[in-house]
Amino acid sequence: MSVRESAHRVVAIDGPAASGKSSVARALARQIGFEYVNSGAMYRAVTWHVLEKKVPPGDGVAIAQLLDAARIDCTLDGDGSRILIDGVDPTLHLRDDRVNEEVSLVSSVPRVREILVEKMRGFARAHDIVMEGRDIGSVVFPETPYKFYIDASPEVRLRRRQAQGQRDQIAARDRADSSRRASPLIIAEDAHVIDSSNLTIEGVVGEIVGRLKMKGMEIR
Ligand code: DC
Repeated sequence: MSVRESAHRVVAIDGPAASGKSSVARALARQIGFEYVNSGAMYRAVTWHVLEKKVPPGDGVAIAQLLDAARIDCTLDGDGSRILIDGVDPTLHLRDDRVNEEVSLVSSVPRVREILVEKMRGFARAHDIVMEGRDIGSVVFPETPYKFYIDASPEVRLRRRQAQGQRDQIAARDRADSSRRASPLIIAEDAHVIDSSNLTIEGVVGEIVGRLKMKGMEIR
């Protein structure tokens, strides 16, 4: 289903790991009164489920079978999206080291993407949303006129992850996310690129809001 058919508005925020897009997307959603959806968390939740079930993260066929047999419920709780797999909420495990290590591999499985993209489009059937990810402007909602790509220098991104107390091989993840065959991280042709290296969250949000208004979006 296209964004035009849905009548709901979608702001797509893509970018590499630790570019600041989560903080920006959450703050933006709050400011403009849209629902916030973190698509990376959905891929992380599925990765956690795969690891819990001891399915090898490189076995695409087994992963597809596992997910096709699972019940995946995606909901909004007022401050973001939540995903339950077979009734289990993996929120507390989404940043575990083992999830960080395997999420790029699991998210490169085409069936994983098919299932989750359908869920993502489901959110926009009922709500105005700000969604962050890697392929939101290029693949999930290609027709939305509101596309942003947030970047930051590798040094700044590494510092941000360390400040969060996380061990995360962001360079390796970026390489994997950008080079995979299924929906790689790219800058959508019509996306507005913002380098957040020297900007605050408020600064980036301000730039996005200005741009949305310029494009005619009515903001309360
Ligand atoms: O945004 P994040 O770092 O939490 O995302 C975790 C991983 O999920 C990322 O390395 C690749 C995958 N991902 C994806 O493939 N497509 C998206 N739209 C969002 C995330």
